Amino acid sequence: MSIDYAERIPNNVHLAEDRRLQRALEAWQPHFLEWWKTLGPEGFQAKDVYLRTAVSVDAKGWASYGMVKMPDYRWGIFLADAAAERKIGFGDFYGQPAWQEVPGEFRATLRRLIVTQGDTEPASVEQQRRLGQSCPSLYDMRNLFQVNVEEGRHLWAMVYLLHAYFGRDGREEAEALLARHSGDADNPRILGTFNEPIQDWMSFFCFTYFTDRDGKFQLKCLAESGFDPLARSCQFMLTEEAHHMFVGETGIGRVIRRALEVMKELGSEDAEKIRAHGAIDLATVQRYINFWCSSSVDLFGSEVSTNAASYFANGLKGRPDEASYEEHRCLGTTYAIEKPREGDGIESEEVPMRNAMNEIVRKAYLRDCDIGVQRWNRVIKKAGVAFELRLPSERFRRAVGLWAGHHFDPSGKPVTPAEWDAHVHEWIPTEADRAFVQSLMRPVTEPGKMAGWIAPPERGINNLPVEYEYVRL
Ligand SMILES: [Fe+2]
Ligand SMILES: [Fe+2]
Repeated sequence: MSIDYAERIPNNVHLAEDRRLQRALEAWQPHFLEWWKTLGPEGFQAKDVYLRTAVSVDAKGWASYGMVKMPDYRWGIFLADAAAERKIGFGDFYGQPAWQEVPGEFRATLRRLIVTQGDTEPASVEQQRRLGQSCPSLYDMRNLFQVNVEEGRHLWAMVYLLHAYFGRDGREEAEALLARHSGDADNPRILGTFNEPIQDWMSFFCFTYFTDRDGKFQLKCLAESGFDPLARSCQFMLTEEAHHMFVGETGIGRVIRRALEVMKELGSEDAEKIRAHGAIDLATVQRYINFWCSSSVDLFGSEVSTNAASYFANGLKGRPDEASYEEHRCLGTTYAIEKPREGDGIESEEVPMRNAMNEIVRKAYLRDCDIGVQRWNRVIKKAGVAFELRLPSERFRRAVGLWAGHHFDPSGKPVTPAEWDAHVHEWIPTEADRAFVQSLMRPVTEPGKMAGWIAPPERGINNLPVEYEYVRL
């Protein structure tokens, strides 16, 4: 389905044929723009940025690139094409036709799922709003803004569903999505992680690597939903989301490459010397990974969850790549989860498969996270440095689920509270680490130039050279 750009709201959902819905969304649009101008990227709203915009929902050739001032970005409503006679792929309604309208009995639950997903999209824009001012290059600044405008579009995707399928409650929720703000004491964003400001680019790259990847897995589960408009919205969001993870993986990769270059120059692996030379040592990179991976792992929820079981049973939220599983009802089967043993130690317990859905998705997420870690390790090994980055154990620093309230080191070994206190500075970034990283955050805005703590990217955007002026200041 092609996208109609002649409309005020670009869309491929025949919005013009539903005057009421069109008017409602056109009334929401100025509120969105107002939000974008006040809480979107600070200081660059009037600048030309080399951005991609979706022009079709085909996997190939879906985007066009050009200079755009961010408030003029064509945010719109793009759903993946409908599959003919799509069937529900899991749970109690397995094999029945997918729903084109919201089933009454699941209305409140579906609304909550959509609102929770929708809330994270503008939250991340708010968290990242000051980062442009300390960008390591124009290339990176552009990537930040690309991620930001697409998170804005993901908000549109969820707001469309709320307006189109949830009547008055949906319209109220759409307003509330612009009223909650990241870190607001009175009206914060729904999930804790999305209320922490992101003040340095190392955190931004970790956020896009780990937290956006949580988003990817949530979207993969919702892309399986029996509620077809939600599934199709999420399928197209995933196409855009891939770039966000690319920004994270290559960003961390370039920090590592720069550290390796400096080690070679200095003929030393000493962290203090590397820092004195203006690069970020690998042990600090590992601490950032430990911090962001553990906080993102919490976003999947408790290992054993009746909510997760009922989302699956009711066909609302499937497993990522549900079609790759052999069996889709998950009745009468069990899944072995690990949990803390009364007293001490760790034990295994068989729980009904449906109740373990959060854990199943978390495991798939961690496998995906590990792919980039192994790529970074190959670069480190090739440079002849004996250092291996690792994902922390899923038991490490958990605030949600079975491991919360217990102490484990990053390898997953139980430690006492005293051992935790004595070693935590080796495991997650200290105040001094954060202050050091912050001290490096000085803007570099000459085309083609890079800050001293990060290596240049291997190539530019859309076949343009790295030196291209991606943002005209
Ligand atoms: Fe998103
Ligand atoms: Fe994202």
